[in-house]
Amino acid sequence: MEKTKDQYIRRLTILDASELSQLAQSTFVAAFGPKIHDPQVQEKFDDYVQHGYAIEKMKALLKRDDCWCFGLMEKDSLIGFIQCSAPSNQSLKRGEDCLEVDRLYVDSNRTGEGLGAKLLSYAIEHASSLGKNKVWLRVWCHNPDAVRFYERFDFKEVDRAADKWNHPGDFDYVLEKEIKKAT
Ligand SMILES: CC(C)(COP(=O)(O)OP(=O)(O)OC[C@H]1O[C@@H](n2cnc3c(N)ncnc32)[C@H](O)[C@@H]1OP(=O)(O)O)[C@@H](O)C(=O)NCCC(=O)NCCS
Repeated sequence: MEKTKDQYIRRLTILDASELSQLAQSTFVAAFGPKIHDPQVQEKFDDYVQHGYAIEKMKALLKRDDCWCFGLMEKDSLIGFIQCSAPSNQSLKRGEDCLEVDRLYVDSNRTGEGLGAKLLSYAIEHASSLGKNKVWLRVWCHNPDAVRFYERFDFKEVDRAADKWNHPGDFDYVLEKEIKKAT
């Protein structure tokens, strides 16, 4: 992404842990809160919201050298981020030649402006610069807007996996995209 004075992407560090924790938690709640209807899932959801994005957890992630969080900054405030991992930190074993996109969130007041596309393009370039052949990710079956977003980037379904909540009948799509290695 071209760096302009107002908007740019950079790798986040532990100094960003608090801002990242807040954005990750609020975007997660805005995106998925309204889609939870089962009381048992609601309990797991509430627990995840309370603990999953704790500042200490974010710090631990930001310290890893096999995980990258790239933040989309506007006037030096975080408005979106993408988190991606090398195979040693991936949620499924999909070989050594791939990068996983673990999380992609844009401020819920700013979706639909092309910001997610900028972050995803940045992560794909990063994968290419690491010499990877593929980028893969998981999307919840109740998130058709995100599936459409990834399909536009030529991601294809290659598998299905248990979702975060283990609710009967629900699952994550596993989507993958082949990329060109940087020469
Ligand atoms: C999915 C997401 C990262 C896409 O980023 P974005 O900046 O909204 O996307 P862009 O503006 O680059 O592209 C727009 C497309 O994204 C998709 N999209 C997904 N969720 C959307 C939302 N909440 N609002 C608008 N578009 C959304 C649509 O396909 C849309 O295309 P359309 O205009 O034809 O409907 C972002 O919407 C988001 O953070 N959603 C909530 C969290 C989420 O679902 N993350 C992915 C988990 S795997």
